[in-house]
Amino acid sequence: MKEKHIYPIFDKTLQRLDRERLLNQRSKVVWFTGLSGSGKSTLALALERELHGRGYLCYLLDGDNIRSGINSNLGFTEADRVENIRRIAEVCKLFVDCGVVTLASFVSPTNDIRKLASDIVGAENFVEVFVSTPLEVCEQRDVKGLYKKARAGEVKDFTGISSPFEQPQSPALTIDTSKFSLEECTQQLLEVLLPMVGENS
Ligand code: ADX
Repeated sequence: MKEKHIYPIFDKTLQRLDRERLLNQRSKVVWFTGLSGSGKSTLALALERELHGRGYLCYLLDGDNIRSGINSNLGFTEADRVENIRRIAEVCKLFVDCGVVTLASFVSPTNDIRKLASDIVGAENFVEVFVSTPLEVCEQRDVKGLYKKARAGEVKDFTGISSPFEQPQSPALTIDTSKFSLEECTQQLLEVLLPMVGENS
């Protein structure tokens, strides 16, 4: 429900630009989307480490962490996934306003859900990375054992098995972790990202 009698402050004296200057970087949201087990979190962790090592202040928001904290009341129905991503995108918006390079790693399975995130964050701040590792590979990896459970019907609405995943239409970058090493994937990410956040190293 939309809250009434709420008056957000818009005339803050310190702006995002002031914080970006302080940090000597430009902030972005790097939004990783892909199936469970596709390698989103591994890539996001590696990218965070590389950017951090080059002097960028980063912060990583990840599905399983967020779902055990602020979104612990949400499941995997379509409505809950929308609410999950809406809250996460609002959090990302705050981080971007702080000047932080924000990495978000969420299945975010549909075009509508990703559009929602992009609209909240602002398309100019939103860098979509599609981790396109094929379902067969994700299922074979089955790091968390969830594909097996989904096939057995023990986990309902599982993305790729009993719930849809729509391929992004125009991601900034597509990475298939079954074709390249982690180092190669990270390099691809850095090539796209460094010019966007400001080469300060
Ligand atoms: S999203 O669809 O709402 O964006 P999110 O990224 O937060 O998903 O959470 C996905 C993670 O939750 C998966 O990596 C997996 O570990 C776990 N999970 C548990 N149940 C499901 C399910 N039904 N569908 C997808 N992921 C699930």
